[in-house]
Amino acid sequence: MPGPVTVTKTGKVARIALNNPPVNAASHALRLALTEVVQSLDADPEVAVIALYGEGRGFIAGADIREFGKPPQAPLLPEVCLVLERCATPVISILHGATLGGGFEVALATHARIALPGALFGFPEVTLGILPGAGGTQRAPRLAGLAPSLDLITTGRRIGADDALGYGLIDQIREGTPADLALEMAEAVLSGDLPTRVTAAQEVAADPAALDAARAKAEASPLFAPLKCVEAVAASALPLDEGLARERALFDDCMASPQRAALIHAFFAERAVTKIPEAEATQRDIHTTGVLGAGTMGRGIATALLMAGLPVTLVEPNKTVRAEALDWIRKTLDGAVTRGKLASADDTLARLQIATDLDALAQVDLVIEAVFEDLDLKQEVFRKLDATCKPGAILATNTSYLDINLIAAATARPADVIGLHFFSPAHIMRLLEVVVARDTAPDVVRTGFALAKRLRKIAVHAGVCDGFIGNRMLARVRAEADALVLEGATPWEVDAALEATGFAMGPFAVSDLAGLDIGQAGRQRRGEVAPVSDALCAKGWFGRKTGRGYYLHDGKSRTPNPDVEPLIEAARSTPPRSFSPEEITTRYLTAMAAEGAQILSEGIALRPIDIDAVTLFGYGFPRHLGGPMHWADAEGLGTLIDRLGSGAPEILQQLHLEGRKLADLN
Ligand code: 3HC
Ligand code: NAI
Repeated sequence: MPGPVTVTKTGKVARIALNNPPVNAASHALRLALTEVVQSLDADPEVAVIALYGEGRGFIAGADIREFGKPPQAPLLPEVCLVLERCATPVISILHGATLGGGFEVALATHARIALPGALFGFPEVTLGILPGAGGTQRAPRLAGLAPSLDLITTGRRIGADDALGYGLIDQIREGTPADLALEMAEAVLSGDLPTRVTAAQEVAADPAALDAARAKAEASPLFAPLKCVEAVAASALPLDEGLARERALFDDCMASPQRAALIHAFFAERAVTKIPEAEATQRDIHTTGVLGAGTMGRGIATALLMAGLPVTLVEPNKTVRAEALDWIRKTLDGAVTRGKLASADDTLARLQIATDLDALAQVDLVIEAVFEDLDLKQEVFRKLDATCKPGAILATNTSYLDINLIAAATARPADVIGLHFFSPAHIMRLLEVVVARDTAPDVVRTGFALAKRLRKIAVHAGVCDGFIGNRMLARVRAEADALVLEGATPWEVDAALEATGFAMGPFAVSDLAGLDIGQAGRQRRGEVAPVSDALCAKGWFGRKTGRGYYLHDGKSRTPNPDVEPLIEAARSTPPRSFSPEEITTRYLTAMAAEGAQILSEGIALRPIDIDAVTLFGYGFPRHLGGPMHWADAEGLGTLIDRLGSGAPEILQQLHLEGRKLADLN
């Protein structure tokens, strides 16, 4: 196997190819080899220019994230960058594919940067709870100025080659292969056609307004890293060595923060969920698709399939809904074109057929059913699909809660039946629960995951139970939120506490958005009651859609509904007490972790990390807490067991007894 760097000499040019698949992460082996090679080439009198480029998919996608949290091994990336920058021989970098984080920092330390048109740049460190720690906070401002650097470094926003050129972060954009361009541009340095310069020697123009604005924004965030990013960038006013020392100290602060561990867990969660037992099964070909029901979900799912390039036959018996759905899909596709997400709405729409009857699905490879949430109806529909669809077609249901084994049993081919649980709005939300029923065939599961990838969604393997992983956890925490209210917290206190923690929306605001009637239907199915919610439903106050629920909604904002308080009073059986935001959040997260542990022990989720992924990518769980299972480990299983008392799931007790963590099950 070739090492992480290979050198090719052509005349006075030495090209260094970086080769550390899959993404050329700057691992210890790569850092070491690169440093040694650069130092020896710098000492070689035959070499007049050094050109760096990446083999494979990109230049360097950043530091090797798997090394974080382990003892650092020299040479560290900042030292590698200094070796490059201080090299007496000019060093240029040819940038293609992902040039992110530490990879971008390596490039900024070279003496000229040439990008291929598709190159992708950015400092994603902040999304991992850290800051660019290899001189990025010092060198980016020297090339681009403070305002663009602050923007890129505090948001992690990724930019293309054109923007990078516009900011002055790269010098040219050129077509070609990285290896050929490396030689061509190195020769341009020799002939004097490509100027080189040392980034450290450039001045940073003062911009106190940009710093103040970035600082204010970072201070308002529950995240730890953004403010550290701002402080590091501010240090670029210092001489480089001092600025680098400041950057390193701030980087170390971030590394030590629990948010860093949680955010990196979230990064790997997105990738871990693709590792499924059915990975080796051969996927079925999906060339054509059908969607049954053109309501909220059906039209969204159809749009997602269309945008992924698939033809869709959308079946809806209701004429008005058909017309509304077509209109909605057209507007949504137009919006996608405006936002640069889609080339042509007309071409995309040309792949859509709308039909009134299920017979139109006879030849499709995959059907996704999204009719009303009613078991009898779904069974009837699946009976018809069984009689109509060609052999080998996958029959999927988008049910939120229902028993997919019972739906599959309505057909003579339960092996072809699966749950594909999309989230609303289906063309936007990233999560897809792939619900594997008792008889679902492995190749059908594998195909579900392949479809998710094609739709650019994050698929999570789930088993059958009421609400699968996500909605089952939601039901549990909703009940906990209701309990908090009965004990004395107000719904808006609960929402505010959780939103301040970083939840996209508190549970009462979510209920208003989803419709209180939907929640009630679920409770009725499970034989549960929720006195306040049920009282609101009895008044016909279903939340946002009726303008009134826990909140009053005017289409733009929400304000607490004062009429809820007497309903709460009437439902209370004990005198109310007050709750701090911390107590609310702890109770809520503890309930969530307990339900997750229970789901895990029943085998509904493959691993704790899958549960984290569901809540992170489908339910607005704060990324900097890593998911409820990661949070549980960080909190300590013993602490959790004490809080839960006799209600602590056995799996937690067992793990605690063995001195293990939930993460050990990943
Ligand atoms: N370190 C270690 N592994 C990495 C990695 C990294 N920086 N980036 C990606 N990988 C791994 C993934 O985990 C995945 O592994 P798997 O196949 O075992 O699951 C594999 O590489 C392929 O990654 P993706 O599935 O994400 O491939 P894509 O083609 O979809 O995306 C990418 C490629 C755009 C490079 C994307 O992986 C990405 O955004 N990576 C993270 C980049 C990043 O955050 N870099 C900053 C690191 S922090 C840093 O540099 C600190 C410095 O300032 C000191
Ligand atoms: P909806 O009420 O908006 O749409 C259902 C549509 O199905 C209606 O247009 C109806 O005319 C149509 N329909 C009824 N019988 C039909 C039949 N026999 N053939 C074809 N079409 C038929 O419902 P919604 O919200 O889209 O939900 C659909 C399914 O998706 C349900 O199972 C629901 O639980 C699930 N779901 C809903 C989510 C949401 O946020 N609304 C999220 C995830 C899943």
